Amino acid sequence: MKVPALIAVALSTLLAGCASGPSAEEQAAMVADARKASGALIQTLGGELKTALGEKGPEGAVSVCKVRAPQIAAEVSKQFNFDTKRVSPKNRSPAGVPDAWEAEAQAGLEKRLARGEKPETLDTWQIVATPAGKQFRYAKALPVQPLCLPVTAARQKSPTA
Ligand code: HEM
Repeated sequence: MKVPALIAVALSTLLAGCASGPSAEEQAAMVADARKASGALIQTLGGELKTALGEKGPEGAVSVCKVRAPQIAAEVSKQFNFDTKRVSPKNRSPAGVPDAWEAEAQAGLEKRLARGEKPETLDTWQIVATPAGKQFRYAKALPVQPLCLPVTAARQKSPTA
């Protein structure tokens, strides 16, 4: 499988008592919050990954991605009242498997990237009907950078590693 150009930060929240769905203003406010939440996650995690890679190399980064990432996601979830997760079509953790909505969102973002949109501002959202009620779902592109793939790069140089 080719390495994806993008992986995604996915947010969702159930809209309690909202049978007719949120108004345009309410949706705009949720999108603004989702952008802040995903931005906070990406910025905090990116900073910690860079520091860990510099100080401890790939092993330090694995620990950040495995231990710190869920902690930061939990903090962001609490602060902004979203369920927050990171997903990838080429996931490393079982928790990183995209569900059907996330997979479709990621594929759509990938197409928009290919058409020339800037990854920094690439996101998508939707109000989805679920058995539990209406849900706001949001996905933000997380561009795969060389920084994210030192292990893959090492494996490519030495396929038996
Ligand atoms: C900015 C760069 C990076 C980004 C955007 C990134 C993104 C992600 C994402 C979205 C996941 C969850 C989906 C999945 O399981 O694949 C993940 C998990 C993981 N990443 Fe990263 N990553 C980065 C850098 C790194 C580096 C440098 C390493 C190691 C050298 C690493 C090792 C891992 C590992 C081991 C997991 C699975 C963690 C677990 O078992 O829960 N990542 N990463």
